[in-house]
Amino acid sequence: MSFRIQPQPVARPNRCQLFGPASNTKLFPKMAASAADVINLDLEDAVAPDDKPQARQNAIAAINEVDWGNKTLSVRINGLDTPYWYRDVVDLLENAGDRLDLIMIPKVGCAADIYAVDALVTAVERAMGRTKPVGLEVIIESAAGIAHVEEIAAASPRLQAMSLGAADFAASMGMQTTGIGGTQEDYYMLRDGQKYWSDPWHWAQTAIVAACRTHGLLPVDGPFGDFSDPDGFRAQALRSATLGMVGKWAIHPKQIELANEVFTPPEAKVTEAREILAAMEEAQRTGAGAVVYKGRLVDIASIKQAEVIVKQAELIAAQQ
Ligand code: COA
Ligand code: MG
Repeated sequence: MSFRIQPQPVARPNRCQLFGPASNTKLFPKMAASAADVINLDLEDAVAPDDKPQARQNAIAAINEVDWGNKTLSVRINGLDTPYWYRDVVDLLENAGDRLDLIMIPKVGCAADIYAVDALVTAVERAMGRTKPVGLEVIIESAAGIAHVEEIAAASPRLQAMSLGAADFAASMGMQTTGIGGTQEDYYMLRDGQKYWSDPWHWAQTAIVAACRTHGLLPVDGPFGDFSDPDGFRAQALRSATLGMVGKWAIHPKQIELANEVFTPPEAKVTEAREILAAMEEAQRTGAGAVVYKGRLVDIASIKQAEVIVKQAELIAAQQ
């Protein structure tokens, strides 16, 4: 244990982050009308090199002109290994209004990557007299990113969220797969001639959740490539939710409801959590440390577990 209190992440729903390339302006109104909590306009890998300047201008116009309601609005800039990223940051912060909430940095590998972007963001904000500081979110999608995940999570007070990017992560790690997330055919245990599939993303996800929870960030599961496989998406999202992640990306509108469904605590779970809190309140009144609820032990730790679920439900209710 530590005497330090675990910091709380920003209090906003992040069940679904819907992506769309900023080169495709006809998607913007559809994204704005969607049920996603977070919108990510992409300047990075969904945009071809020749389209980068136009995509930047589209993103700025969309931030200033589209009605995004109460959604969190984020733009994914290009990686620090490209010639594009500094102009992404400068153009955005010189020309986009305060409606911009977050800048997403892809392929981060160390804390200094965040420091570099933070320094540039801070300088442009001061020069422009911007009063609302822009937040940052990052994607862990390389061997270096996962090796340095904790220092990255601690790198800036602007940081709000961290996603796992399965495809680039797999490539960087040399994993033998071309799938984006989900079950991998060759990753199985054998017993009595039967295959039992295991989860190759589990370790990276838990490392991200631990780093995020230590430093008060939201841990998020990234893309699931096969948007024609709702069951596969749901299974992946349920595993992520069980491990402590708060949401998942959608790369197609079909995936939005699936993410919202998985990352909204079901009514029955919320009711049970409230009952546990009530039982523990009663226990404290009578001086008991632990009580029995539906035939199982609940104690002080159960309060914290129940509070996670109740708090999440309240956050989502407040947004609606
Ligand atoms: N956001 C909002 N609406 C979207 C959408 C998105 N990301 N992707 C597709 N749609 C819309 C389409 O415009 C279409 O609308 P319509 O019925 O009014 O014509 C409808 O949803 C069905 O789309 P569909 O025909 O199935 O897909 P598509 O061929 O138009 O597009 C992709 C498929 C994958 C190219 C597109 O979904 C996309 O660009 N996704 C985001 C990719 C991305 O940003 N990647 C970076 C992060 S990994
Ligand atoms: Mg990527």
